[in-house]
Amino acid sequence: MSRKIVAGNWKMNKSMTEAQALVQELNGMAGAWPSDVKVIISPPMLYLTQIAVNTGDNLHVAAQNCHAEKSGAYTGEVSAVQLKSSGVNFCILGHSERRQYFGETDESVNAKVKSCLAEGITPIVCIGELLEEREAGREFSVVETQLKGGLEGLSSEEIEKCIVAYEPVWAIGTGKTASSDQAQEIHAFIRTKLSEISSQEVADTVSILYGGSCKPANAKEIFSKPDVDGGLIGGASLNASDFNALINSY
Ligand code: PGA
Repeated sequence: MSRKIVAGNWKMNKSMTEAQALVQELNGMAGAWPSDVKVIISPPMLYLTQIAVNTGDNLHVAAQNCHAEKSGAYTGEVSAVQLKSSGVNFCILGHSERRQYFGETDESVNAKVKSCLAEGITPIVCIGELLEEREAGREFSVVETQLKGGLEGLSSEEIEKCIVAYEPVWAIGTGKTASSDQAQEIHAFIRTKLSEISSQEVADTVSILYGGSCKPANAKEIFSKPDVDGGLIGGASLNASDFNALINSY
């Protein structure tokens, strides 16, 4: 099984009409994508069902968040059960923007990871250090804490079903990308930590994506690193030709 994934995180962008137009463009390009690369897009929650039925076999749909409970009095929230029943099979969890603006913690991420796995949804677990944490030389300990916190209590079989995204917060939407060597260093570290909490075999099957100002101009170099299995792409996923170029960087 290939570990290669290119996932687009649309965040809170695009009208329904624009979203549908982008999907149509991507569907038209999908035939030429490398067959060993899994391509995922995550439109705003509101569009998921509509988009999920319009994507071809080569394009998968992810939510950008979910609630940990199955149902109940949680106004404005959507559960993993509801996502699954709407044909959504992937969910981004613990994105730094959710940690920063919505009080997401390793504990809440962990509860959501468990709720997704219980429904057969693949969680894309985001981790990454702040600029001041990197400047203080704390990037490894921050990443380790977030990784272990997010995956706390999972069996090796469950860990194997997760995707991890390393997104240094200082590189998200800033135009500053981690160098390919910086990315590789942290990705190799994440894989080692995964092997410690599961097994080498499991660690070798988990996809670890890089995110943070990844674009056509730098993707080839970053994706060429042995422990970088693709990207979680923000800005460059909003434009079909850029996203297509990223997918074809493999
Ligand atoms: P960016 O965002 O590619 O726009 O930096 C990445 C992300 O937030 O997932």
